[in-house]
Amino acid sequence: MKYTQGQYIIKEKSAIAREIYSFTISCPEVAAAACPGQFVHIRAKGFTLRRPISICGIDKEKGTLRIVFEIRGEGTAEIAKLNAGDLIDILAPLGHGFTVNPDFKKVVLIGGGIGTPPMLPLAKAYGDRAAAISGFRNASAVILQEDFRKTGAETILCTDDGSAGIHGFVTQPFTELAEKGGIDAVYACGPMPMLKGIAAICKEKNIYCEISLEERMACGIGACLGCACRTVRNDEEYFAHVCKDGPVFKAEEVLW
Ligand SMILES: Cc1cc2nc3c(=O)[nH]c(=O)nc-3n(C[C@H](O)[C@H](O)[C@H](O)COP(=O)(O)OP(=O)(O)OC[C@H]3O[C@@H](n4cnc5c(N)ncnc54)[C@H](O)[C@@H]3O)c2cc1C
Ligand code: FES
Repeated sequence: MKYTQGQYIIKEKSAIAREIYSFTISCPEVAAAACPGQFVHIRAKGFTLRRPISICGIDKEKGTLRIVFEIRGEGTAEIAKLNAGDLIDILAPLGHGFTVNPDFKKVVLIGGGIGTPPMLPLAKAYGDRAAAISGFRNASAVILQEDFRKTGAETILCTDDGSAGIHGFVTQPFTELAEKGGIDAVYACGPMPMLKGIAAICKEKNIYCEISLEERMACGIGACLGCACRTVRNDEEYFAHVCKDGPVFKAEEVLW
């Protein structure tokens, strides 16, 4: 795992929903090394432990990364105070990302809430070979739909209360797509019950599935045991480090 720690300039900041911010960061050496599914570990002023945030955009030509995050507590509230022109201290790119296979002809990307941002680089990679299903609590929490459309992916929106898109969970349109067949891979990030449901459908239909887990983290580089998660590899139970062995795992490896 090759990563860099540095202070980089925030080129753009915008609020894209209530308490959800998008930062574009100029960090050419990180952008050059980054791949979909990896994350940046951010130092918030006044906090010892960094906060992990997924990479939502990689522009290798411009040398920029995009992150999208929600204010969940004091750390992310502090990070949200930064503005365009300020420096942000990141350790990145970290973690084991998604497998992007150019031979895949049809993939489904599924994001739940703030698990949606890491799906966008995959949509960019697969273009019109992807169907991007996103689920949110309600219309005011919806993010990134126009960004998904611009990649050429089929874009399917769901909300729990029906205030935008399909009324229901992401598993509903996914089940319909899975019934039609022809899916080479499914990639997902979001709340555990959602991931568990998707993994079960993929197992039943025999579809390859990778999921990104969001665990509490400390070091972010595999040096502590802050992010241990029970997995199975080569038929043996194994405590994986989500930060280093993941955050992306094959769904079949996770002990739910
Ligand atoms: C690999 C990875 C990628 C992530 N990507 C994103 C992203 O792209 N955008 C985004 O908004 N968030 C993302 N998160 C979650 C983000 O790291 C947490 O919201 C953040 O660390 C909370 O810090 P805080 O100091 O603001 O909150 P705290 O004060 O630490 O906690 C506030 C609340 O957030 C919850 N929380 C804290 N950490 C996590 C976590 N890791 N996962 C789930 N809930 C948590 C706590 O249970 C608590 O309810 C990611 C987490 C991981 C592990
Ligand atoms: S956060 Fe330290 S090992 Fe993963």
